[in-house]
Amino acid sequence: MRIGVFDSGVGGLTVLRAIRDSFPNVDLVYLGDTARVPYGTRSPETVVRYSVECADFLAEKGIDLLVVACNTASSYAMDVLKERLRIPVLGVVEPGVKEAVKLTKGKVGVIGTQATIRSGTYQRLLESFGLEVFAKACPLFVPLVEEGLTEGDVVERVVEMYLSELKEAGVDTLILGCTHYPLLKGAIRNFMGDVQIVDSSEAVASALKGEVTDEGKGTTELYFTDRYQNLEKMVELIMGERMRTLPAGIGSQ
Ligand code: DGL
Repeated sequence: MRIGVFDSGVGGLTVLRAIRDSFPNVDLVYLGDTARVPYGTRSPETVVRYSVECADFLAEKGIDLLVVACNTASSYAMDVLKERLRIPVLGVVEPGVKEAVKLTKGKVGVIGTQATIRSGTYQRLLESFGLEVFAKACPLFVPLVEEGLTEGDVVERVVEMYLSELKEAGVDTLILGCTHYPLLKGAIRNFMGDVQIVDSSEAVASALKGEVTDEGKGTTELYFTDRYQNLEKMVELIMGERMRTLPAGIGSQ
């Protein structure tokens, strides 16, 4: 079994790692569109166009299943990708919502990029389960993580700035609706206190159980559209080991 995973950058490696932890034998191919990150500030049309290019790149690598690890892409491009590809396509929104529905007592918070929150995809799906939903875009979280800043004073102040209103609203469950946010989980948990945190990377890995047979050679190929200076460091931070990165040969604006 060969699974393709794409994200706008390195954040989707949190999803890749969760899949690897659950399925040690499958073959994984990852594409990070580091040349065009962030997707979260772009128009829906651009997000869809980039997502199609990423999906086509991975489809050519002979994958049996595609995981759209980017919340922004999952918010806008799922219908197009499902129609275009002849293999199963799984996004991050549905698994995250299902997990939240299981955990919540009724008040759910969801945080993500501006584009993800503006799309209303999470909100509509959560509301269809009769839940009260509080959504908040947290645009500074991605650059913080990209800078390797995941704890300390600056992080705590930004977390407080964005999450105060969700805390005051009394949400009991919080969905981290962006691939980068699991890296801020410690700071988010410290500030929010006693709330259930839904990490979409873990939710995706559990959604794959039943769909995926853990068979293959256990290989991991990592492709990036731009191999910038910090890349190797970020890969190591998220995957927990040094890994080889390969050029993808796509990614022009
Ligand atoms: N990968 C994106 C997401 O999960 C975050 C980074 C970006 O804005 O591209 O929404």
